[in-house]
Amino acid sequence: MATSPKKSSQDLSIQVGRVFTPTSPIDERSLFAGREEQVRLILDVINQKGQHAILYGERGVGKTSLANVLSSFWGLANRIVATRINCDATDDYNSAWRKVFDQIALTSEQPGLGFTREPRFKVASAADLLGPSPATPASVRSALTKLATQALPILIIDEFDRLGQEPRRAFADTIKTLSDSAVNATIILVGVADSVEQLIHEHQSVERALVQIRMPRMSKAEIGAIIANGAARLKMSFSSVAGGRIAKLSQGLPHYTHLLALHACRAALDKQSMTVDTDAVKTAINKAISGAQQSIRTAYEYAVRSPRKDNLFSDVLLACAMAETNELGYFAAQDVRPPLQDITGRRYEIPSFAQHLNEFCDSKRGPILHKDGTRRLFRYRFINPLLQPFVVMRGVDADRIKESALD
Ligand SMILES: Nc1ncnc2c1ncn2[C@@H]1O[C@H](COP(=O)(O)OP(=O)(O)O)[C@@H](O)[C@H]1O
Ligand SMILES: [Mg+2]
Repeated sequence: MATSPKKSSQDLSIQVGRVFTPTSPIDERSLFAGREEQVRLILDVINQKGQHAILYGERGVGKTSLANVLSSFWGLANRIVATRINCDATDDYNSAWRKVFDQIALTSEQPGLGFTREPRFKVASAADLLGPSPATPASVRSALTKLATQALPILIIDEFDRLGQEPRRAFADTIKTLSDSAVNATIILVGVADSVEQLIHEHQSVERALVQIRMPRMSKAEIGAIIANGAARLKMSFSSVAGGRIAKLSQGLPHYTHLLALHACRAALDKQSMTVDTDAVKTAINKAISGAQQSIRTAYEYAVRSPRKDNLFSDVLLACAMAETNELGYFAAQDVRPPLQDITGRRYEIPSFAQHLNEFCDSKRGPILHKDGTRRLFRYRFINPLLQPFVVMRGVDADRIKESALD
C-alpha cells in the first residue's frame, strides 16, 4: 500500500527529531561531525602508557558527544573496556570510582560440569576489585592494575567540574600514581573550564602524565558538516544561504545548529518542501526563541528590563552579541560601537553606553556579562555562552537587525 504524502511527511518530521538533537549529546558516529584533531590527540594518549587526558572547554561545545563516540574510533582488535560516568555535586572520590567500577562487568571462565564440560562464563561486577573500604588513589591503582590484566580500561570521568576541590585533588594524585607505576589504563577527565588550572590547581605536578586537550567552539566547516550530515540522513537539503545563516547564528555552538536545523526542517516539511530555505530559517528562529530554556529567556528579560521605553539596553546587549570577539569569546567596548551603529543607525561613543556595559556586569542586570582585565583594557564576555546566540536571534526576530547581516 502506498503511503500518503501527508503520512510520510509526518514520519519524516519525527525522524528530524532523531537527527537534530539540541538537548542530547551525539551517540552515533555517523552523525558526529568534525573534531578530527581532538580525536587524534585522545587516541595518542590512549596508545601511550602512563598518559592520561583532560578535555576541557565551554559548556555545550560537544565534549560529551566526543566522549560518547570515542569508542567507535578504535578497532575491535584491542580488548578495551571503556566506560563513561557523569559526576554530580554530591559525588566524592569514593562514589565517583564506585560509579565507574559498577559499570564494568568482568567475565571469568569457570571449568564446566556435566557431560559436555563446556566452560561456563561467570559475570561479576568489577566493583569487587575496589574492596569494601572507601576508595583511595592506592586502592584505585591496585584495582585498575588487576582490571588491566583482562583488558585495557579507558575511563571517562565527565562533568569533572562538578566535583569539589578534595576529590579533584585525589584524581590528580591517582593520575600521578598510575603514571608512575605505568598501569596500562587511561583516565580521561572531561569538564567545563577555560583552563586546566580551574579544574586542577596542582596540575603542574601531573603535567607530564596529563595531556591537556582544549575543546574549542566548532569551526564554520564543522558546523556545516552537522547540517550536511543531518540533511543527507533525512534526504533533505538546505539552500546555501539558509545553511550559512544557521551556521552564523550558531556561533560555533552545536546546540544551536541542532535547534535551528530541527525547526527549519520541520518548517520546510510543513510546506511540503524537502528544501530548507531562508523563510524556514526565519520560522525556526521564532520557534527557537519561544522554545529556548526558561532560564535563558528569564536572564534576557532581566538584563534588558527598563521602565523607559526609549532605553538602549536591548540594543547595547544585541550589539554585544554581534561584536567581534577573540577566540575565548571576549570583546572590548570599542567592538560594540560598529554593531550598535548598524542597529540604531546612530553613532554612539563609548561613554554613552559604558554605563550599560557596567550594569550588565552587575547583579542589577544578572550579571549577564563577565568583565575581565584592568581599566582601559576591560574585556567582556557572556557568562552563559548560550545567551549570545539567543540575543542575536531575538534581534532578528524583532527586526532590529537584518537577516542579511547573518550572511
Ligand atoms: N561533533 C558533533 N557533531 C554533531 N553534533 C554535535 C557534535 N558535538 C556536539 N554536538 C551537539 O551539540 C550539543 C551539545 O553537545 P554536548 O556533547 O552535550 O556538549 P558538552 O558536553 O560540551 O556540554 C548536543 O546537541 C550535541 O548533539
Ligand atoms: Mg557534557
